[in-house]
Amino acid sequence: MTKKIVVLAGDGIGPEIMESGLQVLAAVEKNCRQTFKIDKKPFGGAGIDEAYASLPEPTLAACKEADAILLGAIGGPKWEKMADTPEKGLLALRKALDLFANIRPVAVSSALSHLSPLKPEIIEGTDLIIVRELSSGIYFGEPRELTETMAYDTARYQKSEIQRIIHAAFKIAQGRSKKVTSVDKANVLASSKLWRATAEEIAKDYPDCQLEHQYVDSAAMKLIQNPKAFDVIVTENLFGDILSDEASVLPGSLGVLPSASHSDNGPSLYEPIHGSAPDIAGKGIANPISMILSVAMMLRQSFQEEQAAKAIENACDAVLAQGLLTHDLGGQATTAEFTEAVIQELTAFTAKI
Ligand code: NAD
Ligand code: IPM
Ligand code: MN
Repeated sequence: MTKKIVVLAGDGIGPEIMESGLQVLAAVEKNCRQTFKIDKKPFGGAGIDEAYASLPEPTLAACKEADAILLGAIGGPKWEKMADTPEKGLLALRKALDLFANIRPVAVSSALSHLSPLKPEIIEGTDLIIVRELSSGIYFGEPRELTETMAYDTARYQKSEIQRIIHAAFKIAQGRSKKVTSVDKANVLASSKLWRATAEEIAKDYPDCQLEHQYVDSAAMKLIQNPKAFDVIVTENLFGDILSDEASVLPGSLGVLPSASHSDNGPSLYEPIHGSAPDIAGKGIANPISMILSVAMMLRQSFQEEQAAKAIENACDAVLAQGLLTHDLGGQATTAEFTEAVIQELTAFTAKI
C-alpha cells in the first residue's frame, strides 16, 4: 500500500533537516509494509515567497488529503514585519486540521546525559511526555487587539476542548506509568480554573490512573530540579509551548526534540518542536535528530511501522554514543555527516530483517 506524505520543508534550517529526515525515511522504506509517496509543498516564508501566502490553498488542500504531514520549521526575520507571516500560516494549518493534541516526548538516554548543562544524575533516565493543547487558548482566543498604546489577547477555552485533551493525556498515561500531571495557573486565571475542574471530572473515567495538579510557575522549576518525577504532563497551548522548550535543556538541545500533532480523525502532522534557527541556517550544521525522530514518530503513530521507528531511534542513540555530535551538543559534525552515520547504522539493522 502507498501512503501519501505531504512535506512542508519551510524556512531556515527547515529544508536542511527535512533532507535528513527524508533520507532516513528512504533508508528504512524497504523494510516497511507500506511505500511512501512524497509531495513537497510551499509553506511558511517559502509559501509567501513562492505563492504569496503562508498557507497557500493548494498546500492546505494537499494536507487535507494526506495520510501524514511532515513539517520542517517556519519563520525568520525576512517575513516577521509582513501582514501575512509564516507563524500565521502554521496556526492556520493547525486550526484547519483541528490538530488539538500535540505530543512532545522528552527522553534522556545515557548517550545524552553528559551533554546537558544539568547534572547527569538528575536528568539520566528522564522519560516524560508533554501533551500540549494546540488548537485553542490564548493563541486563538477572540477578541484580540493591538494599538500603539494598548493590546490584549483572550485566553479562552471551551470545556469540550479541555475534555478532549485531558482524555488524550490519560490514554497515553494508561500505556505508561499511569500518572498525569495537569499544569495550570488556577490560582489566578479563569481559564485555568475550568481546566482544573474539568481534569478532575475526566480523571473519574480513569480510575487506574493518578492525577496531580501543579501551577505552571512551580512546574517550570520542578521540571529542571527533578524531571524524573514527571511522566505525562498535560497543559494548555501557551504553557506547553514554554515548558517544552525548557524541557529541551534536559537532553541538552532543542535540536533533538520531535513532536506529533493529532486530530480526532484527520491526518497527523509531525515536526520538530524548535523553529527555523535563523542564526545557523544555511551553514549545514543544524542537528537533524528532531526531524529524524519526527519521522520515527510518523512511522509509529500514523503507519504502525513500529520496527522501523524503533530502528531509527536506536540508530540515533548509537551515533550519539559514538560521540558524533553536531555543534549544538558541543561537537563538529555537520548535518550531512550525522545523517550519513545514522543511515550507516540503519543499514546494519535493515540487513537483519
Ligand atoms: P529556534 O527554535 O529557531 O532557535 C532557538 C535556538 O536553538 C537557536 O540558537 C537555534 O540555533 C537553536 N536550534 C534550534 N533548532 C536547532 C537544531 N535543529 N540544531 C541546532 N540548533 C538548533 O527559535 P527562535 O530563534 O526563537 O525562532 C526563530 C524562528 O522560528 C522565528 O521566526 C519563530 O517564530 C520560528 N519558530 C517556528 C517554529 C515551527 O516552525 N514550529 C517553532 C519555533 C519557532
Ligand atoms: C512551536 C512554535 C510555534 C508555537 C510558533 C512558531 C507559532 O513556537 O511550534 O512550538 O508557538 O506554537
Ligand atoms: Mn515553541
